[in-house]
Amino acid sequence: MPYYVTTPIYYVNAQPHLGHAYTTIAADILARHMRQRGEDVFFLTGTDEHGEPVALAAEAQGISPKELADRNAARFEAMMPRLNVTNDFFIRTSDPRHIRRVQEVMQRIHDNGHTYLGTYEGWYCPRCADFKNENEIAEGNTCPIHHIPLLREREENWFFRLSTFQEPLERLYAERPDWVAPEARRNEALSFINSGLRDLSLSRGKFTWGVPVTWDPAHVFYVWFDALLNYYTALSFAREGEDLTDTFWPANFHLIGKDILKFHAVYWPAMLMAAGIELPRHEIVHGYLLLDGEKMSKSLGNVLDPFDVIDRFGTDALRYYCFREVSFGQDGSVSTTGFEQRYESELANDYGNLASRTIAMVNRYREGLVPAVATDAALAAEFDGLPETVAALLDRAEPSQALEEIWQRVRRLNRYVEERAPWKLARDPEAADRLDETLASLIEGVRVVTVLLHPYIPESVEKLLSALDRPSLDYAGAGFAAQGWGTRVSAIEPLFPKTR
Ligand code: ME8
Ligand code: MG
Repeated sequence: MPYYVTTPIYYVNAQPHLGHAYTTIAADILARHMRQRGEDVFFLTGTDEHGEPVALAAEAQGISPKELADRNAARFEAMMPRLNVTNDFFIRTSDPRHIRRVQEVMQRIHDNGHTYLGTYEGWYCPRCADFKNENEIAEGNTCPIHHIPLLREREENWFFRLSTFQEPLERLYAERPDWVAPEARRNEALSFINSGLRDLSLSRGKFTWGVPVTWDPAHVFYVWFDALLNYYTALSFAREGEDLTDTFWPANFHLIGKDILKFHAVYWPAMLMAAGIELPRHEIVHGYLLLDGEKMSKSLGNVLDPFDVIDRFGTDALRYYCFREVSFGQDGSVSTTGFEQRYESELANDYGNLASRTIAMVNRYREGLVPAVATDAALAAEFDGLPETVAALLDRAEPSQALEEIWQRVRRLNRYVEERAPWKLARDPEAADRLDETLASLIEGVRVVTVLLHPYIPESVEKLLSALDRPSLDYAGAGFAAQGWGTRVSAIEPLFPKTR
């Protein structure tokens, strides 16, 4: 089955921070998991390079928008392998192939009669590139997200007839209750719709840093039209000499932060309807990573640099931490202390130690051979249905909940070590069978959680599975086996060394 997952495309007005890494890792977790299940996955991320947020930042630095875009796009692109993210393509909206395709689709919207020339007057945030409605304005005409004064704009623009999509959008929300998740975000988007949709600027006459409007080249498209279309345009040129649109469109999941809900849950489906393109299946909206109680944001300057975190704790630890500390969908605080604690107590102790101890005991008591005996049926029963539960949660894009299911079994295995106390069994010749069963069961339990942990901590998983001489990530083999396999384990360096 084809499976298409996307992240937002990030503004190149500054370098990446942990918030960008967060959404991208979430998408990677889904993509890796679906590949384990044998699905045909396409995973897209990239950069949003046009519009005011970028033009203003470039001006402030005295360079051209294109220079700034090239510089920062390279940083975002370089972040992907460092996060161990397996995106199939990285789209840049300054790519001429994207630009041509945007012009085609927008021309279709124009030809279908959904545009007109009018005068926009209202409040505008140049950092959000957002025309604010009355109920989206904070104290003293400021932006509630960026805490900067909003600008009073009055200009002649091309408009998109968003208001004519009032009913179609209401119908969409009624017919597809899981189109936006979680439900609180769905309700937020729906109440925006229910408050009455007004037509929306589709072009800007004041700017030149954008995609020229085909039927009026003195204008460029309002950056959100250009940006949203990336999800669709990329498929037409991501793979040399192929058009993947028919294979992968509509997308299964657009992953986004709640800051860009309105654009994805209201404007985007209306645009697609206007162009006669099928709608994506789900918008998955997550909360903010907070630092000192505020949204981590380049505009506010309170950011954690993902590269610093990786240098200290490693990529796997970063990937793991984000989905453990903050329940995906909610807002949540992250901190260096939080990293240190979960690194020590969960990754190094619960998991890393469990793995090294288990392997060490097989080496010590059974010369490295995993006993080929029946595994403990009572323990196996506690793993019954685990791969299915994890898959069902990830099918709903709930990576924190899936991780919690897996971690409960990691903890169960630690208790099993204490219950069985293999070091005591090893001293009693009568208990040889029980020791065999214990070791075979522990190894199998470790293997199962490890296969399931692949999307979260791929590097450690690869090392551990190869030490167990069972490298397969295949999801069909993620169930707890009834029999030890008689293979040879090899010693392993600590997966999460304490000395970092
Ligand atoms: O909005 N916590 O780009 P952007 C969690 N170009 N996620 C965060 C975050 C935080 N503190 N900060 C950023 C744009 N993010 C547009 C998008 S899409 C067609 C165009 C993540 O650079 C989160 O995914 O401001 C958020 O939605 C996105 O970065 C915004 O990135
Ligand atoms: Mg932003």
